[in-house]
Amino acid sequence: MKAVAFCGSARKNGNTALLLKTVLEPLTAMGVDTEMVELAGTDISGCKACMGCFKEKNQRCVFDNDVVNECIEKMVAADVILLGSPNLLCRYFIRNEGFGRSFGYGWQG
Ligand SMILES: Cc1cc2nc3c(=O)[nH]c(=O)nc-3n(C[C@H](O)[C@H](O)[C@H](O)COP(=O)(O)O)c2cc1C
Repeated sequence: MKAVAFCGSARKNGNTALLLKTVLEPLTAMGVDTEMVELAGTDISGCKACMGCFKEKNQRCVFDNDVVNECIEKMVAADVILLGSPNLLCRYFIRNEGFGRSFGYGWQG
């Protein structure tokens, strides 16, 4: 079994990462193959609603210029997917909106 956690915080090793690690640790202890992906420092575009993934249906984003396809591959291979994002209602919201659109309600692969 494989579990992958995506940390959408702009701060590496911050509270969001700590919470995700807290969830992953007992899974690791149970023998689950776990991985955490920190998205801090990566440049992820939001979904452009081009509908390319609807047409291609190949579990990939047609824009292959950021880490999204790499992350989708990890999601497809995983049995458990954790998405962590801090609650930031100011400038950083833009980043988290991109995170949500890329990894949550925008992805239709
Ligand atoms: C600029 C900013 C805005 C924040 N806005 C909120 C908020 O609206 N509601 C809330 O509950 N916490 C808010 N917080 C607290 C963060 O959600 C909290 O510190 C979180 O643990 C940060 O996660 P991180 O350590 O992974 O960066 C805010 C923090 C910052 C720095």
